[in-house]
Amino acid sequence: MKRIGVLTSGGDGPGLNPCIRAVTKMALGYGLEVMGIERGYAGLIDGEMISLDARSVGGIIGRGGTFLGTARAPEFKTPQGQREALRSLNRRGIEGLVVIGGNGSLIGACALHRLGFPVVGVPATIDNDVVGTDMAIGVDTALNTILDAIDKIKDTASSHQRAFLVETMGRESGYLALMGGIAGGTELILIPEVETTLEEVAQGLMDAYVRGKAHCIVVVAEGYKPGTQAVATYLKERQEELGFEVRVTVLGHIQRGGAPLAFDRILATRLGAAAVRELHEGNHGHLVGLIGNQIVLTPLEDLLTHRKEIDLSLYELGTIMER
Ligand code: ADP
Ligand code: F6P
Repeated sequence: MKRIGVLTSGGDGPGLNPCIRAVTKMALGYGLEVMGIERGYAGLIDGEMISLDARSVGGIIGRGGTFLGTARAPEFKTPQGQREALRSLNRRGIEGLVVIGGNGSLIGACALHRLGFPVVGVPATIDNDVVGTDMAIGVDTALNTILDAIDKIKDTASSHQRAFLVETMGRESGYLALMGGIAGGTELILIPEVETTLEEVAQGLMDAYVRGKAHCIVVVAEGYKPGTQAVATYLKERQEELGFEVRVTVLGHIQRGGAPLAFDRILATRLGAAAVRELHEGNHGHLVGLIGNQIVLTPLEDLLTHRKEIDLSLYELGTIMER
């Protein structure tokens, strides 16, 4: 193998730049050439690539986002799109590919693997919903952003005797809300994995009021049904009896931005380097993950059959801490 490619795909998050840096430096150490593919699979199909050397990745370890750009590229989901991607790789003499991204991106990597192309995946998504790793790149920094927001909202909530619904990202996963709720010491955690009725939410607010709390922070995962706005509407209708005025804060994309914290820089460096090592040794068709502080390989095929579950004992812990 003489030349590899690296791309970032799907939703961005903190830690993508240090991962590209690690891929590049590790590959250069093996004497490989590195092509940075811009805008994920969209750029791959269109042949948008730049040659990377040690200088191209200088000074990026602490930068949020991805300097290669990223994209959601529906055209890559089709057989025709994948054929174009393969053609592009072959035309540029790329013999192995590192794909950095979330579930969708890694399922895309699996498609290339099935077509016989050597590919290794690196899990990077704030949602932490990728099997084969305890933590995906970006999760820890996003959690700290959530925590900072919750701490600030708590100040205002206490000053005004208010209940705040704080919505976190995570798609179908409640991981960010759960961990943000535990770390932020919130009064209630609403996640898609655990059914909580609107009446139970109202009861949670009333309990917090009776206990003498000056605020009630409810962290709501975006995937929780019936959704943050429905909870807000219901609670506002019953505001008088609850004891708290209700407000909503949707944290949104601030969770994806910002400088990666130490954990994400180190995780990104370890996983990026491991991905290149595996490619170089001829082990492909896997994603590299961190399980119990060990680098572990998981077949990309597992993404099609396995879902990552959250640890419900942590939800139990969260409910005990709510009291
Ligand atoms: P993430 O990787 O963050 O989960 P997406 O789900 O949006 O983000 O996926 C990113 C990109 O990965 C998609 O735009 C598409 O190019 C590719 N992709 C997603 N799902 C598939 C699939 N089933 N088959 C092939 N490629 C896919
Ligand atoms: O997968 C990362 C994520 O931020 C999800 O948590 C969220 O549902 C989605 O991406 C938002 O996507 P977009 O940036 O396209 O609005």
